[in-house]
Amino acid sequence: MTSLSTIPHAQVLAELRAIVGDKACIDVAADMQPFTTDYRKLYHGRALAVVLPADTQQVSAVLALCFKHNVPVVPQGGNTSLMGGAVPDAAGNAVVLNLRRMNQVLEIDVVNDTMTLQAGVTLQSARAAAEEAGRLFPLRIGSEGSCQIGGNLSTNAGGTAVLRYGNMRDLTLGIEAVLPDGRIYSSLRGLRKDNTGYDLKQLFIGSEGTLGIITAAVLKLMPLPSATAAAWIAVRDPHAAVELLGEAKRVAGQAVTAFELISGPALTLVLESMPQLSAPLPSAHDWMVLIELTSGGDAEGLDATLMQILEQGMERGLVTDAAIAASIADTRAFWMLREEISDAQTRTGGSIKCDISIPLSKIADFIADASAEVLALAPDARMVIYGHMGDGNVHFNPLRPKDVSAADFLAANYARVSHAVDGLATAQNGSISAEHGIGVAKRDDLLQCKSPVELELMWQVKRALDPKNLLNPAKVLPVPEGMA
Ligand code: MLT
Ligand code: ZN
Repeated sequence: MTSLSTIPHAQVLAELRAIVGDKACIDVAADMQPFTTDYRKLYHGRALAVVLPADTQQVSAVLALCFKHNVPVVPQGGNTSLMGGAVPDAAGNAVVLNLRRMNQVLEIDVVNDTMTLQAGVTLQSARAAAEEAGRLFPLRIGSEGSCQIGGNLSTNAGGTAVLRYGNMRDLTLGIEAVLPDGRIYSSLRGLRKDNTGYDLKQLFIGSEGTLGIITAAVLKLMPLPSATAAAWIAVRDPHAAVELLGEAKRVAGQAVTAFELISGPALTLVLESMPQLSAPLPSAHDWMVLIELTSGGDAEGLDATLMQILEQGMERGLVTDAAIAASIADTRAFWMLREEISDAQTRTGGSIKCDISIPLSKIADFIADASAEVLALAPDARMVIYGHMGDGNVHFNPLRPKDVSAADFLAANYARVSHAVDGLATAQNGSISAEHGIGVAKRDDLLQCKSPVELELMWQVKRALDPKNLLNPAKVLPVPEGMA
């Protein structure tokens, strides 16, 4: 490891100011606080400065400067990481580089069906720009108003439409990234076929800013669907949900865009924390599914397809009740209930976050086994279980009982419960981070679920691209015993 900067901080600050300008270099602790505390308010770091570069050249100059002086740099988009991946540690010697000023959509090519944009564009703005051009950018996640395309790329974001459209890796044709020494890598060419050696962009996608800072991207656009049909469905149990998904895919094929599982306690939590929202079904259920079909065909045809899925589900004893959206407002109301599950947990002080993916054929058994293990450890935990069942991803988030403080519950249970749940997933060849990344929260857990060869390769890549270990240090990569 390289020893960190010994030059006076005042000199580094003066040089940073010369690059980005006075207003875009923040060094007052109170003003830096929104950038040094994570979204869930679990990690409270400190920084030497927060810089807000205006363009790729400024990012390059900041990184070259920090490389020269051995100053760590923490890249940051909308600061919505659930894993503490976008904030500095408490040492106070790092520069936070936030990309929010780089928020321009550079080009929409409707013939090539691509969109080129800077990394600081919010997901919501990217989707709106695509829609204005008569296209769909299909990534859909609850934090779309604040999360940025650069963060979506660096965490390989997924969300509620992966089943149909894939995650960020699948939606990206090229990126521009600045390397730790300031050099600029670019593959902003919008090609759907390019077999000229290693696909370097994929190294940066999902590496959480540990190899380079993504500054721009070319993303795929899709046709805007002309019809949507959605239903909130009570199912017998998670096994029934898996069977219903199979039926939906058989009947509707590609039109199945989202298939979200929701446990009773997850819905109850949302309804309690947002009394203005109402339950879609008249009585309470242990397990529910939000299904959405979309197509380029006519609405009546899609409604009939949805009815067919529900009738089959009822006949086979999989479905016990269902509410069908009669309007766009109904569909939005269903999604509001689903998307509020995350923030409702944050409002209670936070839950134990496990973000598991597992083959669909094993997911229902996994939910039963993991629930039994958790309830043996924390018998009164509220089982907030939900997620993107359609692509084998379940957010398994045990939450404190109402009469126990979040601090007490998390202190007593976080480590052992997440260890049990993640251990079970690993034992079944699942992943302990389907879509939320590793950040700092899950870093050391990689020691249990990655082989020595995988860890060594990850470190070799890190050393090749970031020889001084300056980019987002102490994130993602655990240090195995015996490795300096
Ligand atoms: C979600 O699916 O709601 C997100 O991944 C966020 C979360 O699980 O907290
Ligand atoms: Zn999710």
